[in-house]
Amino acid sequence: MTLSWHLFPSRRRPPVQHKTLAMSFVEYGDTIKDGDTAIVFLGHESMFPVKVQQGSVTQTKYGVIRHSTDLIGKKYGSKVTCSKGGWVFILHPTPELWTVNLPHRTQILYSTDISVITMMLELKPGSIVCESGTGSGSLSHALIRTVAPTGHLYTVEFHQQRAEKAKEEFREHGVEHLVTVTNQDVCKNGFGVSDIADAVFLDIPSPWEAIGHAKSALKAEGGRICSFSPCIEQVQRTCLAMEEYGFTEINTLEILLRVYNSRSLLSFHLPPKSLEHSLSPTSPQGKSNKLPNSSYEEIPTQKQGKTHRRM
Ligand SMILES: C[S@@+](CC[C@H](N)C(=O)[O-])C[C@H]1O[C@@H](n2cnc3c(N)ncnc32)[C@H](O)[C@@H]1O
Repeated sequence: MTLSWHLFPSRRRPPVQHKTLAMSFVEYGDTIKDGDTAIVFLGHESMFPVKVQQGSVTQTKYGVIRHSTDLIGKKYGSKVTCSKGGWVFILHPTPELWTVNLPHRTQILYSTDISVITMMLELKPGSIVCESGTGSGSLSHALIRTVAPTGHLYTVEFHQQRAEKAKEEFREHGVEHLVTVTNQDVCKNGFGVSDIADAVFLDIPSPWEAIGHAKSALKAEGGRICSFSPCIEQVQRTCLAMEEYGFTEINTLEILLRVYNSRSLLSFHLPPKSLEHSLSPTSPQGKSNKLPNSSYEEIPTQKQGKTHRRM
């Protein structure tokens, strides 16, 4: 994965007032309500989203959850006992939980990349961001949460069903006032806005064709752009296009998540002081005095089986 950046100074916008909704991905609601999207948590490797509906039931391996009696009116975070006696936790949705639970319509961005993208684009409450393509809306939810409550996301998707589904999800998740979804080809028609964006993000196969539109969408005094590409050839063409359009401070990054395994060596005892010399690493007996090296393993930033990009 490679990201290209450019930077020039940006200006703050005055805050805009938006209505707030009962439950949403950008505002914590204490109690589970009819119509909410909740996360049924069976374990870190096993959870799924559920649309809470009066009269509905959800099947789990621990038995049935009855929405009217087991969910509605309960606190988020509650432990709910299913019909077979097993239990689950019901969690309030967050963009991070949505990313690992959403229905995939495309390849998606995961939280490791999303966190760096958000930081490098210098997003904050009130930022105006343009994005293309919307895809499955994984990044969109995180962008919306970051720019809320006064910012806005303009997201462009040329696949009609994906654009419609994204709109529907934003409505269900109580964030529709923070996002505009446009169904068009960003390379031909741009983002539908000009001179207002603090930042632009591209996750499309030919980002170099959208750089001119990105520049038009950005504020006249500048902003930041990031393009996410799996292939170095795409990166090269995009960097060239950025240069051509006058972007500066262009960088390419690869984000790797490295997980360390740290273990206690319970059976390892330090030798008594008197034996320290005879157990030096060079002495024959000394071999056992050596601490093993710490070990680590590298894991891909995306779930196994979802590491290859296809568009
Ligand atoms: C990999 S997906 C984006 C995934 C998204 N970042 C996420 O985290 O869910 C790429 C999307 O870009 C859309 N797309 C590709 N080229 C496009 C273009 N020229 N204009 C608008 N959308 C485009 C595709 O239809 C696809 O839905």
